[in-house]
Amino acid sequence: MEMTDQVNELLDSSKLIDPFSRHITYLRLSVTDRCDLRCTYCMPEKMKFLNKKEVLTFEEMYRLCSGFINLGIKKIRITGGEPLVRKGIMDFFEMLKPHLSQDLEELTLTTNGTQLHRYANQLYENGVRRVNISLDTLDPMKFKQITRLGKLHDVLLGIDAAKDANLKIKINCVALKNINDDEIDRFINWCVTKDFDLTFIETMPMGDIGNENRLNHFLSLNELKKNISSKFELEDTSFSTGGPAKYSKIKGSEIKLGFITPLSHNFCSSCNRIRVDATGVLHQCLGQNNSLDFRQILRSPEYTEKDLIENIKKSIKQKPERHSFSYDFSRDHIEGKIERHMSLTGG
Ligand code: GTP
Ligand code: 5AD
Ligand code: SF4
Repeated sequence: MEMTDQVNELLDSSKLIDPFSRHITYLRLSVTDRCDLRCTYCMPEKMKFLNKKEVLTFEEMYRLCSGFINLGIKKIRITGGEPLVRKGIMDFFEMLKPHLSQDLEELTLTTNGTQLHRYANQLYENGVRRVNISLDTLDPMKFKQITRLGKLHDVLLGIDAAKDANLKIKINCVALKNINDDEIDRFINWCVTKDFDLTFIETMPMGDIGNENRLNHFLSLNELKKNISSKFELEDTSFSTGGPAKYSKIKGSEIKLGFITPLSHNFCSSCNRIRVDATGVLHQCLGQNNSLDFRQILRSPEYTEKDLIENIKKSIKQKPERHSFSYDFSRDHIEGKIERHMSLTGG
């Protein structure tokens, strides 16, 4: 049989279904582990980053994405580190754009917003319609304290540029006890005024963060939601983007309020995603160490498309059922901590 027939046969006989009957349709691809911020809950102040040659080229990433799209991936989210600090990143969006009019339903990104004022229009031109922007505070001093290096003003400028470019915006806010829990109402009111959806996230035990103590700042979203409900009229919805957030509507406004609760309420049974980090390693679950190295495959002198397709299928068969991290506050102990930083895997 010719190689192209073999590849077609492999594609025909499959969609990506994992051992727990979950359809995998969503790829999160980290294009760099680098970031222009150093958020205290994400990385230590003196973070070590990868060497350039360890990171996949755009050509390698494109080949990988094409393989996934051929096997039924419908949504690609570009992440980082901070994806917009990678040189030439718009070229990569441009490479993926033609798939949007064929076999890809959504191309999007998660960004810290610092570079958005430069790129918002180009993102729209390249087919992006929705962006998730990480922002944990509206207080300039606190922003500096959390991110160590950032200026709130730059992010607000980026957010406005995204809005002007007609990008639909969701704000991602990591809920942090004794850090931003006193400004939640202000945050919600700001999003209502601006017409941004807002999602709160529980902090997860990923990677070394130096002297910071994760448990001290963990805020259960059960608690947060109760608190919000006493001030805003919330209505649960069945709305889903296919992501892990459970959404409520705030009565009297158009915005949706999302809660991502990996610690207080596990959502793994509906997982539809896999992640590829900037080195080409596929991680079957954010909270486990199972992985498959695609860089080795992509850079092999014997590389074939058939090999790539077979390995993508194999990697899905190895997807674990769920993450297993948890916090034991009585012993000040973290169970199942993951050594990998979120900035490598892209959240
Ligand atoms: P939407 O397409 O808007 O639903 O995006 P999303 O929620 O899938 O993506 P986003 O980048 O906004 O995700 C926000 C954060 O949620 C991530 O950075 C992670 O911290 C967390 N998250 C996303 N997916 C998972 C997951 O599968 N498991 C866990 N434990 N956390 C996740
Ligand atoms: N736990 C939860 N969320 C995190 N993020 C980064 N590190 C963590 C962590 N340890 C968030 C960022 C951003 C997204 C990419 O992941 O704030 O919203
Ligand atoms: Fe950078 Fe995002 Fe980590 Fe903050 S959370 S340091 S913005 S990768």
